[in-house]
Amino acid sequence: MAYAAFRSIGAYVPEKILTNKELTSMVDTSDEWITKRTGIKERHIAAKDEYTSDLGMKAAQKAIQRSGIALEDIDMVVCATISPDYFCMPSTATIISTKLGLKNATAFDISAACTGFVYSLSIAKAFIESGMKKNVLIIGAEKLSAITDYSDRGTCILFGDGAGAAVISATEDKSEAIIDVHTGADGEYADLLMTPNGGSGSAHDSLEEEAGSCFMQMKGNETFKVAVRTLTKDVKEILADNNLTGNDIKHFVPHQANYRIIKAVGDALKLREEQVVLTVAKYGNTSGASIPMAINDVYESGELKAGELMLLDAFGGGLTWGSALVPFSPKK
Ligand code: ACO
Repeated sequence: MAYAAFRSIGAYVPEKILTNKELTSMVDTSDEWITKRTGIKERHIAAKDEYTSDLGMKAAQKAIQRSGIALEDIDMVVCATISPDYFCMPSTATIISTKLGLKNATAFDISAACTGFVYSLSIAKAFIESGMKKNVLIIGAEKLSAITDYSDRGTCILFGDGAGAAVISATEDKSEAIIDVHTGADGEYADLLMTPNGGSGSAHDSLEEEAGSCFMQMKGNETFKVAVRTLTKDVKEILADNNLTGNDIKHFVPHQANYRIIKAVGDALKLREEQVVLTVAKYGNTSGASIPMAINDVYESGELKAGELMLLDAFGGGLTWGSALVPFSPKK
């Protein structure tokens, strides 16, 4: 049987930084409020002519180069994004695939908001274990600044742009394998976090009316409470299902939405500070890109070693949630 190994990681953030101080000249807020309520200090913002596919392509190039796998051997590209280059089509995955120089790889996007990377991981694992694919490039890429309302202080202080990517490959060595991935969704909570316009469910009658109203809207406080409850339950379940405890985890890599949510989940699992990966201060919430960007930070700091076990955990619009137990398994 083929198993799926997490071979490599890469990430990219655009150059421009938007600080909390700069946001105070745009909306009625303060550095103190943002820092205390979210832990965010700054976020990166893509240039006008820099698209989600450009961010994703740069992250993917690093991941492929670090994987030791030849570009032409990548047989599937999955891009998790809620800020695709184009509404409906073509998919951002196909654009990235072509920008990378891939000719025949299967390519498609998935929409699972902040849980997108964990969903992509489950897709890669399933395709590899079934024998249908051998080397799957998964990408979380977001230009959230394109769907953020910079007059809404409840959301514009949270989101940033960036991308992360990983190569997942077939292996026969079970010790290298991704152990488990959990995913779930509940549309009952859809209205907590949504872009209500821009699709066939829009209240607008014409594209003209639609223009300029396709931004993210969020009931922040309610989302916060559901996030803590769902994430804690989900990580406890995936650990129990696999006869593991928090002590077996080297790196807990949660979706970077809010420092207080991460702290609450980490405390519920009785994790030590050094186990919890935190990047929310410098990148803000980058939705589907946040987990691979955080893994990349650990990798680039030299603190992610072969065989170390990561616990990934995400929650986002939909609502969607997911967790994964993933040993880092670079090619030997
Ligand atoms: N600056 C100053 N005051 C603010 C700001 C701001 N930027 N935003 C809101 N406020 C005010 C509110 O108006 C409110 O004022 P009031 O008491 O006079 O009515 C007060 O601050 C408290 O507002 P809350 O919304 O209750 O603040 P809360 O502590 O919940 O923090 C936040 C808001 C940061 C958005 C938090 O709720 C949060 O992080 N929620 C979860 C986000 C998340 O995890 N999303 C899921 C993933 S995202 C995705 O899928 C794309």
